[in-house]
Amino acid sequence: MSEGNGRAPGGRAPGGRATIRISGLTKSFGDQTVVNIDELVLGAKPVEGLIGPNGAGKTTLMRLIMRSTKADTGTVTLEDGSSEVMLSKLPPHRIASLGVVKTNQVTQDFAGLTIWDSLLLAVAQRHDERPHRVYRERHVRESHGEEIRSYLDLFEFSEPEGFAHSTGEKKLLDVIRCLLLKPKILLLDEPTAGLPDDVTAQVIDMLRAKVAEGMSVVIVEHDLDVIWGFSDVVHFMAEGDVILEGDPAYIRAHSTVVEKYLGSGHV
Ligand SMILES: Nc1ncnc2c1ncn2[C@@H]1O[C@H](COP(=O)(O)OP(=O)(O)OP(=O)(O)O)[C@@H](O)[C@H]1O
Ligand SMILES: [Mg+2]
Repeated sequence: MSEGNGRAPGGRAPGGRATIRISGLTKSFGDQTVVNIDELVLGAKPVEGLIGPNGAGKTTLMRLIMRSTKADTGTVTLEDGSSEVMLSKLPPHRIASLGVVKTNQVTQDFAGLTIWDSLLLAVAQRHDERPHRVYRERHVRESHGEEIRSYLDLFEFSEPEGFAHSTGEKKLLDVIRCLLLKPKILLLDEPTAGLPDDVTAQVIDMLRAKVAEGMSVVIVEHDLDVIWGFSDVVHFMAEGDVILEGDPAYIRAHSTVVEKYLGSGHV
């Protein structure tokens, strides 16, 4: 971080919100350094946007936090109330159970599972490391069936009792899967890409409701209307580092953001 806009550098968020502290985090693929962050705190504000040009390292940063990609150097720490847990020392499946959950930019195929089975599996995975043993069991459906149905009622899946078909349906399913895990901090990687505008608005409304209940969101999006309208603070990433952060109006008007990302005439 080289510049700020009214934020204390690092530190625990006031009001007890869990935060993710990133220190000395680097990742290279071959001779290309794609993430190189000295210090960054995510999650201090309820909704934080993470934007930047293609290839800036946004997805890689999120994958490093979740440990779906291994860092070369550095630490990622979850600071939650008085507890500090070094996520970068944990196996990936433990990270979700601590309340840090991520959607995927490219939706994963749920290997032939129906909508219901994929959601039941997500819930079961939270409670058991051998989910195949339990996910069909009645108690998972009994404890979470109503909640799953309420999500499925909210969105018009073409075949709610069958499979997700379009990319948009798979994206929605991924967001619902994450929300069922009751995250403290939800990392969203282009959650509305490929969704029609009205469904995008529905997803954002649903996320706003969760944020009002205490969940924090870190969202990567190229749909900047979503970013400007939804974020409390925006981090601007370029060439592997977050080089600016501030409120949406500040970032939107900043000459570096215009030059490296938005292009003139955008503001
Ligand atoms: N597994 C990998 N192997 C090699 N290079 C990779 C790998 N994953 C990412 N990269 C490279 O790292 C750089 C950063 O990629 P990343 O996907 O993190 O960018 P991004 O900011 O999410 O971009 P976009 O906005 O296009 O999604 C890119 O140059 C990409 O080609
Ligand atoms: Mg990406």
